[in-house]
Amino acid sequence: MRKLIGPFSEILTLSGLALNGAIDDSQLQVIRNGGVVVEDGMISAADDFEILRKANPELEIEKIETDQVLIPGFIDCHTHICFAGSRAKDYSLRIQGKTYLEIAKSGGGIWDSVQQTRAAEEAKLVDLLKQRVQRHLADGITTIEIKSGYGLDVANELKMLRAIKTVSLTSKADLVPTCLAAHLLPKDFEGSQVDYLNHILADLLPLIKTENLANRVDIFIEESAFDRTAAVPYLLAAKAMGFEITVHADQFTTSGLEVAIETGAVSADHLEASTEREAALLKDAETVAVVLPGASLGLGMQYAPARKLLDAGACLAIASDWNPGSAPMGDLLMQAAVMSAAEKLSTAEVFAGLTFRAAKALNIKDRGILAEGMIADMQAYPCNDYREILYHQGKIKPEMVWKNGTRI
Ligand code: NIG
Ligand code: FE
Repeated sequence: MRKLIGPFSEILTLSGLALNGAIDDSQLQVIRNGGVVVEDGMISAADDFEILRKANPELEIEKIETDQVLIPGFIDCHTHICFAGSRAKDYSLRIQGKTYLEIAKSGGGIWDSVQQTRAAEEAKLVDLLKQRVQRHLADGITTIEIKSGYGLDVANELKMLRAIKTVSLTSKADLVPTCLAAHLLPKDFEGSQVDYLNHILADLLPLIKTENLANRVDIFIEESAFDRTAAVPYLLAAKAMGFEITVHADQFTTSGLEVAIETGAVSADHLEASTEREAALLKDAETVAVVLPGASLGLGMQYAPARKLLDAGACLAIASDWNPGSAPMGDLLMQAAVMSAAEKLSTAEVFAGLTFRAAKALNIKDRGILAEGMIADMQAYPCNDYREILYHQGKIKPEMVWKNGTRI
């Protein structure tokens, strides 16, 4: 089915922008009074609405009656939204001054979510996950990465990944699952970090392959989780099995980013502790730097040095990290807008980080730009100037969202 959608006050296509480094707003392609031709879920043209209408008089028109700015659907390339329970108690302790690590040591933290998630039936996880995916989709997020990592044993990691698969079969959003069995050394595992990671390699990853539950593997490299000596062979072995690899890196202390680049990870995520030395490693690197302002807001800590990373030549994506502990809010646009004011990111850099640069972090090439040959994942905001979107710091939401060219 072919149709013409429009006219939009503006279409911000995000075409023609570099994958790495700083971007100036003057480089943005803005089509005023624009239209998009969609054919079988794909974009076949984005141009002036009247030109498209005259050139294709036979086309059915999906008419836009109000002022709307069209941009690509967002891609949230880092979330942990498959979980049960709540960590409101952790949050109340944090705002009284306890640190994330102190809370983890005294029985809260990731391990608490592991207990609550292990106690939930798979059907309950499916239900909770569906609601969160639906909320993200309504916020214009059409592709969502989702990690396991609150199971931390074979049965419960499989339960989480199966729940993600179940939701992906019916959800309108595209879900990208990642195995994060290496989130934490589980307290009930008898053995070292290396023993645990070898157990995951031998007893979990082959089942994930057989059931086709994920093709990405993540690890949390941190003093409180896994060290680089244990992480490097794990990542290389997962890669040799055919998984793409990604790393939770430099959240509190450095070393993870270096490991990510050395092992050829598709992305290194967090980077709050990264310095100029780490930034320099990202120049022209294939590894995408993913910053997670929601975790900084949830923990009350500094943002990752996004400006420095871009100026050093990184491909910078922005994701929500939505999870029950460090980042409970899950409002990606709000987080990106607020961080951009602190870090001095241009509108172009923010939208690039939420779209085609985030697609690169997931190694997906068919979305994130409104141009011929791309999937028609799109969202429209009720305004007539694209700058209004960040200006309202997340308070204006998309009024219309399309997945594969269909309005949802
Ligand atoms: O990305 N840093 C490690 N993992 C998650 C937090 C998970 C949690 O606190 O439950 C993160 O922030
Ligand atoms: Fe995370």
